[in-house]
Amino acid sequence: MALLEVKDVHTYYGAIHALRGVSMSVEEGEIVTLIGSNGAGKSTTLRTISGLLRPRQGEVTLRGARIDGLRPHEIVELGVSQSPEGRRVFARMTVHENLEMGAFSRREKVPRDDYDRIYDLFPRLRERTAQRAGTLSGGEQQMLAIGRALMAKPSVLLLDEPSMGLAPILVEQIFEIIRTINQTGTTVLLVEQNALMALGVAHRGYILQSGEIVLADAAAVLAKDEAVQRAYLGGD
Ligand SMILES: Nc1ncnc2c1ncn2[C@@H]1O[C@H](COP(=O)(O)OP(=O)(O)OP(=O)(O)O)[C@@H](O)[C@H]1O
Ligand SMILES: [Mg+2]
Repeated sequence: MALLEVKDVHTYYGAIHALRGVSMSVEEGEIVTLIGSNGAGKSTTLRTISGLLRPRQGEVTLRGARIDGLRPHEIVELGVSQSPEGRRVFARMTVHENLEMGAFSRREKVPRDDYDRIYDLFPRLRERTAQRAGTLSGGEQQMLAIGRALMAKPSVLLLDEPSMGLAPILVEQIFEIIRTINQTGTTVLLVEQNALMALGVAHRGYILQSGEIVLADAAAVLAKDEAVQRAYLGGD
């Protein structure tokens, strides 16, 4: 049984039919990437999984149990947490307070170690624990958004374009960190426009086009696929 499964999901914004029967699965321990151009429906897929949007048709299951229809906080409590597109951190709260908010769903006293784990992944955040999040650089805010999502101790981490707007050196670092997060036991569903990097780190991938999955395969196979190269890897 897949850890997370999306089955024939149709999601609308009013009359706009954004997801047209999307099906995909994520197995325990995997990094799965969802690739597509602007407007393909990548963020809509993540928002449907995390309960911010309700599918009009289809199912989302976690370990076989339906989660579509649950409220977003209930889905976080079940172990699915999202780092949203555009690094939406709480600007007026400090770095540390943002991490505290990430652990809110756990309803327990959060051990010091859990913060240390995030600060070990992102040493830049450790140096800035008392700094207001709104004054962090773009890259630092991205790190904080990921760290905050990890504080929920998710079984599945949903990442929406973690490399967006970052300098190449930081992009490399972020992907390295995603690999580390995965190797330390967190399953990852990664949405990216940077197909080359995403396929480099992922085990499997799905290509989304106008709300439909048009291709699904091992990441290494997709990276060599001619159509994928032409459309997403700048090849010709
Ligand atoms: N709040 C909204 N209201 C109406 N339409 C929306 C809304 N959000 C997204 N859409 C539409 O749904 C489609 C899918 O959008 P989505 O944000 O999922 O794309 P995406 O693949 O994440 O793109 P990007 O790479 O630009 O982030 C687009 O056509 C978009 O215009
Ligand atoms: Mg998006």
